[in-house]
Amino acid sequence: MSLRSIIAGAGGYLPERVVTNDELARTVDTSDDWIRERTGIRQRHFAGPHETAAFMGTAAARAALTHAKAEPSDVDAVILATSTPDQAFPATAIRVMAALGMQRGFGFDLAAACAGFIYALSVADGMIRAGQAKGVLVIGSEVYSRILNWQDRGTCVLFGDGAGAVFLRASDGSDTDQGILSTHLHAQGSLGDILYVDGAVGQRDRPGHLVMNGREVFRHAVTRLAEAVDEALNANGLARRDIDWLVPHQANRRIIDGMGRKLGLAADRVVITVDRHANTSAASVPLALSEACQDGRIKRGDLVLLEALGGGLAWGSALVRM
Ligand code: UT7
Repeated sequence: MSLRSIIAGAGGYLPERVVTNDELARTVDTSDDWIRERTGIRQRHFAGPHETAAFMGTAAARAALTHAKAEPSDVDAVILATSTPDQAFPATAIRVMAALGMQRGFGFDLAAACAGFIYALSVADGMIRAGQAKGVLVIGSEVYSRILNWQDRGTCVLFGDGAGAVFLRASDGSDTDQGILSTHLHAQGSLGDILYVDGAVGQRDRPGHLVMNGREVFRHAVTRLAEAVDEALNANGLARRDIDWLVPHQANRRIIDGMGRKLGLAADRVVITVDRHANTSAASVPLALSEACQDGRIKRGDLVLLEALGGGLAWGSALVRM
């Protein structure tokens, strides 16, 4: 019997502080109209000093475990996708393990920018299929407010902070068709300079700020994500009409709407959080997924397509029977 990974629960965490477009426009040369029209963003959450990637990741992980009716003792591994870790090391994932009171298992961070959660989900799924772990927490947690350049209005209005998590449980597939059907990962390093952070802890006196050529990223996102959707469907012998829900990376409403139209999905079958969360990078897909699972929109048996693209460029998709 071949092993499969089931999404047993999903949870999220958003910082307490909400910042509207109008509030940003008091200090940045921008307007609510411009931000809404070009991106669909109305507001974002910004982390307070205590709301680090580990703090928010732990809260999201707890919510996912509660949703799955699981305990920290059921977790064999924690994989945490972030570009804004608390420290260079220990891994933020291991800080989360400690905060959850885990006495065993292993954990590590994974960096694939906005595609980080899809990458982490793929790695976790591979470990479960290989029999290396039976219960895996997959987390995306980001504090982009700490790496934004407030002098660059083309980027600082686009991002927010938050964390999302899922708890994956191994199933032998004998009694259900549930589970992650496939994941598909891609990267093209020659496009690394259209979206990057110009520093890191390994660079003297340069913690780094986010830099983006928005138009170029937009252009590649539309093409690559459309290809990724077809790749996922073809790999499973499924058609666009089979998809019940699209849970896309939440960077820009225009990109999301375009993808929904391509799939022929009614607007209410596409999960949208970008209006309230802005772009939370690796946290955006699990935050959107957890919202739609927790409020009952996504139900057991639904076919859900997850996709994301970001710095690297790195992108990917996952097709999941819930
Ligand atoms: O998560 C990773 C993936 N990221 C993405 O997918 C992001 C993809 N890119 C985008 O979402 C869009 O390209 C942006 C939202 C970043 C920008 O939208 P755009 O329609 O491509 O605008 P633009 O960069 O071409 O700028 C248009 C105009 C410029 O003025 P001029 O040169 O036409 O006079 C900008 O200076 O808008 C101006 N502008 C702004 N105006 C007010 C740029 N940022 C702002 C701003 N407020 N915040």
